[in-house]
Amino acid sequence: MGTLIQNGTVVNADGTRKADLLIEDGKISEVRAGIDTAGHTTVDATGLLVIPGGIDAHTHMDMPFGGTVSADDFLTGTRADAIGGTTTTVDFAIQARGTRMRDALDIWRGKADGKACIDYGLHMIVTDLGSDNGEQGLADMDDMVRESVVSFKLFMAYPNVLMVDDGTIFKALQQTAKNGALVCMHAENGSAIDVIVQQALAEGKTAPIYHALTRPTKAEAEAVHRSIALAEMAGVPVYIVHLSSEDALNQVREARDRGLPAFAETCPQYLLLSIEDQMPGKSFEEAKYVFTPPLREKKNQPKLWDGLVHDHLQVVSTDHCPFCFADQKQLGKDDFTKIPNGGPGVENRLQLLYHFGVNAGKITLERFVEITSTAPARIFGMYPKKGVLAKGADADVVLWDPNAEHLISASTHNMRCDFSMFEGWKVKGNAAKVFSRGELVADNGKYIAATGRGQYLRREARGGAWQ
Ligand code: URP
Ligand code: ZN
Ligand code: ZN
Repeated sequence: MGTLIQNGTVVNADGTRKADLLIEDGKISEVRAGIDTAGHTTVDATGLLVIPGGIDAHTHMDMPFGGTVSADDFLTGTRADAIGGTTTTVDFAIQARGTRMRDALDIWRGKADGKACIDYGLHMIVTDLGSDNGEQGLADMDDMVRESVVSFKLFMAYPNVLMVDDGTIFKALQQTAKNGALVCMHAENGSAIDVIVQQALAEGKTAPIYHALTRPTKAEAEAVHRSIALAEMAGVPVYIVHLSSEDALNQVREARDRGLPAFAETCPQYLLLSIEDQMPGKSFEEAKYVFTPPLREKKNQPKLWDGLVHDHLQVVSTDHCPFCFADQKQLGKDDFTKIPNGGPGVENRLQLLYHFGVNAGKITLERFVEITSTAPARIFGMYPKKGVLAKGADADVVLWDPNAEHLISASTHNMRCDFSMFEGWKVKGNAAKVFSRGELVADNGKYIAATGRGQYLRREARGGAWQ
C-alpha cells in the first residue's frame, strides 16, 4: 500500500514530464505515466508541479551570536521550513575556541534531535585547530567526516570571535584533500573591515546603515579571491557561502572559467533587497536588514541572477538567522556593531525564487529545482537520496501550486520572528502539500506531523567527485 501522486507535472533538474509518482515505505518506488492505482491511496496533483523537497544548505537555528541566540530553534525553524516546501536543512555547529569539534557536534545534535521536523545535517564551524601545530584539530576534522559532518565553515571575518588566519584555512583545506570533505568560506576581509568600522564609530556613525557602509564589496571580493587561491594551492574544491556582490561573483566566475572547482551560493535577500530600497539611512528600523555580508547596491542584483542562470552560482540558500526586532535587534540601538547579524528566511525561499525567478522569466523551472534542491544535495553529499524525484530516493516531495497567491507577512508566517524582510510582498506559487520521507508533513500552510520527526542525515564526503 503506497501513496500515489497522480496527474502532476514532475520536475527534476534535468527535465519536466507528465507522470505519476508512487511512494512506498518512505521512498519513491516509481515515476511514470499511468501507474495502476490498485491498493494505493491516491493524491490528485492535477494542475500542480511535483518537485523535490527543497534543501536549504545554510541555516542557523538556536545559534548564540552577539550576546543573544537566534530566535528560531530547531522546532520552530524546521516547522517553518516544511511549510515553505523545504524538507532538508544543513545547519552549523560551532566549535567554541579551546574545545573539540565533537563537543560542538554533541551540543548541536542535542539542540536538534527531538525537535527537528525535517531531516537535517550539520556543517562544523572551525574556530581553532589546537596548539599542536593543528594536529588535533585536523584529526578532529577526520573524526567529524566519520560522523557525516562532511563540510566545514571557516570565517575570514569577525576578528577575535570566529575569524581564523590564512594558515588555519590552508591547513583545513589541505586536510580535505585527504578526507574528501568540503570547506565553506565566509569570505570578507575581517581585519580591514574592522579598521573601517572603528573609524566610523570614532566619527559617531552608529546607525544600522553603517553596518553596510563599512563592509565594502572589495573586502568580499578580496576574501573570495584569497579563498579560491588557497584552495587551488591545496588542490581542493571550495564553496563560498552567502555571496552578495558582483565584485565577489567575478572572482568565482574567473576561477570557474579556469576550470577550478569553486562553488558559491547566494541568498534571496541579495537577489531582491538593496541598500537603496531597504536602508536609506533614516531609522533604526533598518536594523532588520543588518546581516553579513550586508545588503548591496541594487546594481548587483541582475549580476547575481545572471550568475545563477550561467552556473557561476550553484545554490540559493537562506542564511536564516532570525533575531527579533523588539528585544534582540535593539541591542544595537546606539551602536550598529552590537546589532545581532541575521534575518529570517526559510519559509519564503521557494516562494520568492519561484515568483521572482520562474514567473519573471529569469530562470527555468528546472533551474529553480536545481539551485534549491539538486545542487545542494550533490555538493553536500546527499544525492541521490535527496534532491531528485527518482526511484530509490527519499520521498521528499512537494506538490507546488503555481497559481496559489500568498501575501508574505510576519503576522502570518511561522518563523519565530516579529518581522519579515519581505513584509507585504505578494507572490504567486506556493507549496500545497509537502511530503518528507513519504509522510505528509505540511498541508496548505499548516504543519500536520509530529514535531521532532526529523532525522540526522548521513552525508557522504564527495572526495573530489564534483559536478
Ligand atoms: O548575518 C549573518 N549572516 N549571520 C549568520 C552568521 C553568518 O555569518 O552566516
Ligand atoms: Zn557567514
Ligand atoms: Zn550564515
